[in-house]
Amino acid sequence: MQPAAMSVPIYQSVAYPYFDAKEAAEIFRGEKPGFTYGRWDNPTVQVFEKRMAALENTSSALATSSGMSAIFLLSHHLCRAGDEIVSSNRIYGGTFVLFETGLKKMGVNTNWVRNPELFDEWEKAITSKTKFIFVETPSNPSLFIADIPALAALAKAKGLPLIVDNTISTPALQNPVDLGATFVVHSTTKYICGNASSLGGIICGPAEIIEGIRHCGLRYLGPSMSPFNAWINLCGLESLSLRMAKHCSNAMAVASFLESHPKVESVNYPGLSSNPYHLLQEVNRLKGFSSLMSFIIKGTYDDAVKFIDSLELLTHATHMGASKSIVTHPASTTHSGMGEEEMCKAGISPSLIRFSIGIEDTEDIIADIGQAFDKIK
Ligand SMILES: Cc1ncc(COP(=O)(O)O)c(C=O)c1O
Repeated sequence: MQPAAMSVPIYQSVAYPYFDAKEAAEIFRGEKPGFTYGRWDNPTVQVFEKRMAALENTSSALATSSGMSAIFLLSHHLCRAGDEIVSSNRIYGGTFVLFETGLKKMGVNTNWVRNPELFDEWEKAITSKTKFIFVETPSNPSLFIADIPALAALAKAKGLPLIVDNTISTPALQNPVDLGATFVVHSTTKYICGNASSLGGIICGPAEIIEGIRHCGLRYLGPSMSPFNAWINLCGLESLSLRMAKHCSNAMAVASFLESHPKVESVNYPGLSSNPYHLLQEVNRLKGFSSLMSFIIKGTYDDAVKFIDSLELLTHATHMGASKSIVTHPASTTHSGMGEEEMCKAGISPSLIRFSIGIEDTEDIIADIGQAFDKIK
């Protein structure tokens, strides 16, 4: 008998020996519960999937090797050549390129909503060929916030699923399915993992569709989450709500500091009462505004570079959602694949700087940002 364990055991195994040939056939046919092959099922990964489904209030969840593979597998499952999708252009640059080029290669066209704050634009983008509506809210890096209940009502009226990328809020701050969304996707690489160590993704949604993806897309394309990464994510979930509370309070302090700083032109952080999306907190039942923010520095592109290079506590990296505070320059890194024209339409200028505020001491973070501002003219 296996001893009980407080930490979920890591089943570092791709196969699960059967008692006999009859049992193997029964498990494979789904007539008996059990595990078959690590590409589509694993006991450690399954615990993570069950906990994520419980947190997002869905009947099932499917873990993947990355956030991108979660979005790809779901799109691949819902669309065929000749279909269309509708998406906000305020999304992670990788998702933009996947929709614009990857899905296009499969014959699936994206109708971009380039003013996602205007509800009419969503309605106009839907055609008889549309297969799903996609929104990232809050969005990376411009911090657009969608009215999820209104979008969900539109999707329902048109008989379409609404997919929400909930990476930035996490289920600790927002539950899109409770507001009418059909699916939630995450890059678990970010806040859920929390320590910048492991790539991962998840799709949360209705069991009949999720299990369909497991036994088609995941099984035959193969972007599965490793048991070790599932274990890291399980550790992350244990402290998620506490970390998110500290991320939010630190971010609020930093955003207020930026807003009153003479070298800052404008700040995108929906926690600020001056932000146009602040009022959507109630509508989306947001428990906090997470810790991603972006701002435009007064001065030239060279001043922005000098500022970034002068930061000492904040790490300059292409990442967000870690315990450590991070600075990123989206136009030259995370969103550069969109091309200059599309970046401009999405409000990503060369002087836009992104912060993912961590959970260090608030004063230390603000002191570091302050000294970096002092280095520019
Ligand atoms: C909002 C959002 N969704 C999805 C992704 C893709 O996730 P991953 O890097 O885990 O593939 C990212 C990556 O930065 C992201 O910011």
